[in-house]
Amino acid sequence: MDKIAGVREKLLAQVEAADEPQAVLRATELKELYREIPGLPAEERAAFGQKINELKQELERIVAEKELAAENAAVESIDVTAPFDTTSLANSPRPTFFPAAQGSRHPLTVELERVAEIYNLMGFEAVESRQLDDDFHMFSSLNFPADHPARDGYDSFRTEEGFIPPAHTSTMQYRILTERKADLEAGGQVACVSYGRVFRNEDIDPTHEHTFYQCEGIFVSRDATLGQMLATLREFFQAYYGQKLAIKTQPAYFPFTEPGLEFLIEKPKGLGGKKGDYLEMLGCGMIHPNVLQVAGIDPEKYRGFAWGGGIDRLVMLKYGIDDVRYFESGKLKFLEEFSQL
Ligand code: DAH
Repeated sequence: MDKIAGVREKLLAQVEAADEPQAVLRATELKELYREIPGLPAEERAAFGQKINELKQELERIVAEKELAAENAAVESIDVTAPFDTTSLANSPRPTFFPAAQGSRHPLTVELERVAEIYNLMGFEAVESRQLDDDFHMFSSLNFPADHPARDGYDSFRTEEGFIPPAHTSTMQYRILTERKADLEAGGQVACVSYGRVFRNEDIDPTHEHTFYQCEGIFVSRDATLGQMLATLREFFQAYYGQKLAIKTQPAYFPFTEPGLEFLIEKPKGLGGKKGDYLEMLGCGMIHPNVLQVAGIDPEKYRGFAWGGGIDRLVMLKYGIDDVRYFESGKLKFLEEFSQL
């Protein structure tokens, strides 16, 4: 037993001093102690073996503690809260380190938020549209008869499974109407906008992209009128471009409106072009009674108006962007111009 105590003292001192304390666990002294067991009187062997095991466990524990302490010391020596030395950067004629360039939000994201905010202030709730939809929401719920040629006008893509990446945000009308009709029955109204990506299978050029953004509005009440719709839209465009604007409408056909209109604004001042030019901004109209009916809203009791148009075009006009394809191009030079938006 004295021998074990001697070895213990020696090995503990070694652990204390060692750079690699693990090595002490393989010390020959320990092996020698084990080798002595067979030479001992039978009644002493168990207690002796037990003592060596205890010594081994003690050493293992101390070694592990020491290693952990060493690891922690290494981590603590890097002070992650320390600011890097800005003065040395400023004084250095050729700094060798700069923080990586910060990205910025995409101009369409920023502008979509502005659009939604204006409609919010006017009392419309904003919901994002879906990026994969089906025939029912794209066509049938919007009063497109099966095999009607008006379906072709939307140049829609279709997946092998028959899903449709939406070609307009009008796909959200049925969802909004069915989800909000309880508000109508409770004496309120439906007032929502829906925004998001839409997709069309058409040849691309400076004014056409296969992927672009739309914003759709829908309002239903007991006595909605076309006059309210024109006032709402005019108010929106004036808020967005920050000036008074003249507006015009012209007749248009959409299966989901009756009557249907195209909505034009006079070209905003200060954005190029001459006064008196009108630009078509969106399609709109009174919601067709069949669309209300499909959504379970009685068209004898309620009426509504809806509109939908491109966001890209809105933003291009505001900033004088001449090619819609820049938006999806991933061109950093283009995006950087809008990093301060
Ligand atoms: N969805 C139509 C399009 O993309 C635009 C539109 C027209 C939306 C009339 C409407 C509407 O909500 O009432 O061409």
